[in-house]
Amino acid sequence: MAVTAGRPTGQEEPENPLVAGLERLPVAPTTLVIFGASGDLARRKLLPALYNLAHEGALPERFNLIGVSRKEKEHGEFQTECMEAIRRFSRRPPREDVLETLLENVKYVPGTFDDDGVYAELGTILDGFERDAGEPLNRAFYLSTAPTFFPVIVEELGRSKLAQHDTAEVRVIIEKPFGTTLEEARELNRRVLSIFEEPQVFRIDHYLGKETVQNMMAFRFANGMFEPLWNRNYIDSVQITAAEDLGIGTRADYYDSAGALRDLIQNHMLQLLCHVAMEPPVSFTAEEVRNEKVKVLQSIPEPTAVEIPRMAVRAQYGAGHAGGDGVVGYLEEEGVPKDSITETYAALRLEVDNWRWAGVPFYLRTGKRLARKVTEIAVTLKPVPHLAFSQAGSLGVQPNQLVLTLQPNEGVSLRLGAKIPGTRMIIRPVNMEFLYGTAFLSQSPEAYERLITDAMRGDATLFTRNDEVEAQWRICDPIVKYWSPAHPQTPGPLAQYEAGSQGPEEAESLLREGDSWRAI
Ligand code: BG6
Repeated sequence: MAVTAGRPTGQEEPENPLVAGLERLPVAPTTLVIFGASGDLARRKLLPALYNLAHEGALPERFNLIGVSRKEKEHGEFQTECMEAIRRFSRRPPREDVLETLLENVKYVPGTFDDDGVYAELGTILDGFERDAGEPLNRAFYLSTAPTFFPVIVEELGRSKLAQHDTAEVRVIIEKPFGTTLEEARELNRRVLSIFEEPQVFRIDHYLGKETVQNMMAFRFANGMFEPLWNRNYIDSVQITAAEDLGIGTRADYYDSAGALRDLIQNHMLQLLCHVAMEPPVSFTAEEVRNEKVKVLQSIPEPTAVEIPRMAVRAQYGAGHAGGDGVVGYLEEEGVPKDSITETYAALRLEVDNWRWAGVPFYLRTGKRLARKVTEIAVTLKPVPHLAFSQAGSLGVQPNQLVLTLQPNEGVSLRLGAKIPGTRMIIRPVNMEFLYGTAFLSQSPEAYERLITDAMRGDATLFTRNDEVEAQWRICDPIVKYWSPAHPQTPGPLAQYEAGSQGPEEAESLLREGDSWRAI
């Protein structure tokens, strides 16, 4: 029997009045197969996301889950592990009845990802689910494994014919990182697209599933007042920050071979830049939205060896403080080689060389172990051309700045100049704020909830297309290569910053005269 994972009837939660009555596109009956089902991502994000979808009745009526990973274990043991992961990491405390219904019939297939036997066993289970359902079921294969297995799994799915179905849709969802260089990304695209068609492929960038990232499109394209200003005539600079207070935790293996540029800038931060800089799409279809984003990426000149030292800075954290406690430096973190030159901080100054943006600097920075966790986009407008106030009155006048905060305290704030009450005309900046939490009074879903349902529906708007991922690599690849120890011009010692600080002083060198990094 297949699982009916929708919320049990008679226990409906009140629907958010703002969306009541709006139609949701249905999700067809689906079997989701998670490769790497015992891994961190599955436990922390995917399984809790599935629970929350089940809780909201957003999974299809017939929904089956199969986990695949290396370790030998029984279906029952896997089911218990899933329950524990959901209890521990779900954003809402799980209701036992929903949890049990969701996992009632979960299956587990042990084995290595290159073992034909694993795919034969998967085929048997998938067929069994269809027999029980008495109807064809869509298949979604979620690759949440180490990236080296992505092509292996895809090719096995092709060889075993699991990637084909005459009467139902088959989709593949691929986690990041999609390659570690441009060449690898191209090769991976080639191998994936030799088995699947592009519309069947869903490359994850979880930032695209965040409510606040999607809100950027609403903000720009559902309001008439910003678009006329949204260009080089009025905008002076754009600053995008993705700062984290956490260190690398237990991820030394992955992180030391990735570094900040590949971990966050190549994907999440370039996506944020695209959302700021893209032209309004003709319609909100996957193709139109992604066409516009690709055009932005293509307008960014490929960094050359002469420019890289002037437009890119990297650094590594040393010992310092986090949350009031002393913390070790990157080189002392467990699993990090003592001579590692992996950057834990990266900052870039990019230009979007097109009609709308020519000459406007886009500053991007990200880092681990900075003062606090904050992801924001600050758009600074040009100063007014003339100030008619007395010198004293003008001192507090600052250019307008629009700050879109993605996390925490999601919202939008606009810095305006206002008169200080009193008998004199003295100006000072004030902020006009919109906060998501207070305006909508509802908890935002986790990014993975949105992404999993969209992939099961076949809507690829919030996923990265093949040419898009390659266009992102085209920008980062020369910098990765320049920073590699193998490069003949690699600069001397790596810059350092204290854990818990604002980042390295060296990042100042990227700024145009008069610009400054916002406080983290
Ligand atoms: C992941 C990176 O993609 O994004 C992590 O691998 C990073 O290193 C994380 O911590 C940040 O995501 P979020 O949603 O917490 O901003």
